[in-house]
Amino acid sequence: MNIGVMRERAPGERRVSITPNGAASLISAGHHVLVESTAGVGSGFSDAMYEDKGAHIASDWPKVCDQSQMLLMVRPPEMLEPIHPRTIMIGMLQGWSRSTTIDQWLGSHAITAFSLDSMPRVSRAQNMDVLSSMSTVAGYRAVILASELLERFFPMLMTAAGTIIPAKVLVLGAGVAGLQAIATAHRLGAVVKAFDTRLAAKEQVESLGASFLNIALSETGTSDGYAAGLNQDQHRQELEFLKRFVNEADVIITTAQIPGREAPILITSDMVSGMKPGSVIVDLAGESGGNCELSKPGRLVQAHGVKISAPLDLVSQMASDASFLYSRNLVNFVAYLDSLALESPDAGDTTDEIYLRTRLTSSSSVLTDQVSNAR
Ligand code: NAI
Repeated sequence: MNIGVMRERAPGERRVSITPNGAASLISAGHHVLVESTAGVGSGFSDAMYEDKGAHIASDWPKVCDQSQMLLMVRPPEMLEPIHPRTIMIGMLQGWSRSTTIDQWLGSHAITAFSLDSMPRVSRAQNMDVLSSMSTVAGYRAVILASELLERFFPMLMTAAGTIIPAKVLVLGAGVAGLQAIATAHRLGAVVKAFDTRLAAKEQVESLGASFLNIALSETGTSDGYAAGLNQDQHRQELEFLKRFVNEADVIITTAQIPGREAPILITSDMVSGMKPGSVIVDLAGESGGNCELSKPGRLVQAHGVKISAPLDLVSQMASDASFLYSRNLVNFVAYLDSLALESPDAGDTTDEIYLRTRLTSSSSVLTDQVSNAR
């Protein structure tokens, strides 16, 4: 298969879908790899590094599209015109196909698209789970950002001038990002507390050296392992319960999300006003509205003396390792498609859960004769 690697064009996006080592893995699996020139530069990979591994470089996107049967990307492409009918696309495409224009384009061009951010949370899919990979990066980076914003030490220090007490870090939401934030803050020497509505998170939180804040909300989560969302009464109880811990924290990292819904508000404006001046909130739920009522997605703001940051590009700030993890996930996914030994990846003659959950199906999937014969 001829595989093309797109240069990302979204503002602030520095990741690349395939690293030079990822290209080498695809080539040793029997594929040809064509990389759009400078695609890897934002992550520290030059064109020459790809060529050293046996990949070819194409000067622009139309050339990549002309010579590729499969296109790999991080985010959806901005330029659709050069993409040929019947191409296979793989990237984080969830949400993209919900636009009617895209949906019609996918259908009329008979494009088979796989969205890696729809990967089911099952153990055999773990090595293809890009959401876990990216959340790991975000959770780590959130703590590093908080440590830069906080004008205090994280660890306890005993000096000749006196003892500095460790920072108190509160992590709200203990999924993949939250657990990584807990581990990182703990390594830096902070005293860490964490809360999640899923009681299943308790053991994981405690195994990382943090205390789990217990409140019986009778929320058990969905069969996918995701939170199901609280009713109004439970939400009110949660806010009431969290108030005291929010007030005493020096740093709060929030990561709470409910798939397909706005992020729940866990820190109200009133709660921020009760925090110590100089405290820091890093809100990782900015893309779905934020967990703090005062968060401004993509910005750092100050309110009641508290710094509130809701960055949208945290993962791209660690583009090198983020691309390394993403590329490994993607190479594993291509190997998975190969292992299905389908007549063609758009054949759809499989009932495998990973295939069915990741494949984007256009509601207007019409194969016109013109499209069928186009290649
Ligand atoms: P996520 O990004 O959707 O949500 C982050 C966290 O926020 C979750 O732990 C959720 O319970 C919590 N949350 C939601 N509403 C909240 C509220 N009102 N207050 C406090 N916390 C709230 O979750 P993520 O990180 O994607 O993980 C979701 C689940 O999937 C977890 O159970 C995780 O262990 C599981 N998982 C399983 C994998 C596998 O088996 N392959 C791979 C990755 C994750």
